[in-house]
Amino acid sequence: MNKDIENVKQAKQSFDRILGNQKYASIIRDDKHLAIILDLVRGGNYRRILDIGTGTGYLAFPLAEEFPKAEVCGIDIAETIMDKNNEMVKEKGFTNLVFKAFDGLRYPFEEESFELIVSRYAFHHFPNVTDSIQQMHKILAKGGKVLISDPMRKEEDKGRVIDDFMRVKKDGHIQFYSPRELEELFVCNGFKKEKQVITEMQFPFAQKGEYIEVYDKTTMEDRDLYNIVNENGIVWVKHIHVGNTIFVKQ
Ligand SMILES: C[S@@+](CC[C@H](N)C(=O)[O-])C[C@H]1O[C@@H](n2cnc3c(N)ncnc32)[C@H](O)[C@@H]1O
Repeated sequence: MNKDIENVKQAKQSFDRILGNQKYASIIRDDKHLAIILDLVRGGNYRRILDIGTGTGYLAFPLAEEFPKAEVCGIDIAETIMDKNNEMVKEKGFTNLVFKAFDGLRYPFEEESFELIVSRYAFHHFPNVTDSIQQMHKILAKGGKVLISDPMRKEEDKGRVIDDFMRVKKDGHIQFYSPRELEELFVCNGFKKEKQVITEMQFPFAQKGEYIEVYDKTTMEDRDLYNIVNENGIVWVKHIHVGNTIFVKQ
């Protein structure tokens, strides 16, 4: 538990600092990806929708627009950005959207509160995914759905090389899950996999010696798995799969 709290603390320190940064925002914004996610959840009859690890509300704002009759709530550990988001809610005149800060561990909602839970690029930060999934199960209504959109470890990456790169940033990265690991986690905790669409992303790591050190330790085979290259001192992961997976509460 203490380790989990420490992890959230590290993530919070990092995200409180970077979420308002335009350069960071441009790395994680991807309008084609957003359109795919909206397509995946379209047509549902949702009364309440929860976005976990909402950040700047990149997904929550369009969801509130797409489902005007639903109440949308975005939660995150980064308090400052939640306040900014709520100001934006007022400015833009949304009446069905609210942002709340929480402790990163316990979802502060009653049982069967939501018909849809979404989470984009945040699942790999959750310190105790089994506990998170069990809580999602509780707060979802009967037949409710979870959409997890997150980069995935390749099954062939047995040494979990990708996580070694991700941890350099010290932003509370826990681990990426392979498609099989993700499915097992949800199925073992009362969900059924309904659909998975694979998209792709890439990220540059800042010009930092620590990335080069990790890069130098990896084998050619590991680098080929994700097309990891060193371009003039900037290490790039050029090709990582993102699983956009819908699970249904059983
Ligand atoms: C890469 S950002 C993604 C933000 C947003 N979902 C998007 O797609 O733009 C990851 C987010 O996860 C949040 N986060 C980190 N640890 C978390 C935790 N334990 N529970 C919920 N959110 C967390 C961070 O504060 C950050 O906003």
